[in-house]
Amino acid sequence: MIDTHCHLDEENYEDLNVIINEMKDNYIIASGYDIETSKNVCKLIRKYNNIYGSIGIHPSEVKKFKISDINKIEEMISDKIVAIGEIGLDYYWDKDNKEEQKKFFIEQIKLAQKYNLPIVIHSRDAIEDTYDILNKYLKNTKAILHCYSGSYEMAKKFIKLGVKFGIGGVLTFKNSQKLVEVVSKLDLNNFVLETDSPYLTPVPFRGKTNHPYYIKYVAEKIADIKGISFEEVINCTTETACSIFDLNI
Ligand code: NI
Repeated sequence: MIDTHCHLDEENYEDLNVIINEMKDNYIIASGYDIETSKNVCKLIRKYNNIYGSIGIHPSEVKKFKISDINKIEEMISDKIVAIGEIGLDYYWDKDNKEEQKKFFIEQIKLAQKYNLPIVIHSRDAIEDTYDILNKYLKNTKAILHCYSGSYEMAKKFIKLGVKFGIGGVLTFKNSQKLVEVVSKLDLNNFVLETDSPYLTPVPFRGKTNHPYYIKYVAEKIADIKGISFEEVINCTTETACSIFDLNI
């Protein structure tokens, strides 16, 4: 299994080693959301063989940075950095700096393109603007819309741009009919598994701290919805993740 998106910062866990050890036979892509957490990702990928990294400045953090700070993200790019993210737009938390958010998003897409890396996108209450920017700037860059929460119709538009979807614990929540529809109607090869740990913990642990290992509950739910085996979900989503992040595992 590959948890394609999680935040493994020390302060989130009593003992990070224990959490990572649960995934010792599996793979993790740890994600940063600003300069500091991207530095943490760089430490983790040096320490653990089965962890790869994604680095970038999250839309809710752009207020704290100048556009030139993206250079600091660029300096951190190495062999085990397999994506730029999470980047994107968030109008739920910040409505007053939309133009600034767009600038950071576009510049970081360009950074990914310079290094031939995929992007991991955060989009909240901003799906139309996210689409417009990807439509204009994505070109042949690979992309994952992490924690997808849009409609089936919108998903089909993103698929035409070559975008895949990160599916996490939200799928197991009672009020997730829209996402269940997306998962049931679209081919399995459009999805990768993610936890967004420590957030969005799947049922049966909803409300507690999330662990990367809990992606198995997300995989079980997808198998259940699509009427296929757990192994099929794992094999297909792992293959998709390896192709997007260019992992040779
Ligand atoms: Ni995240």
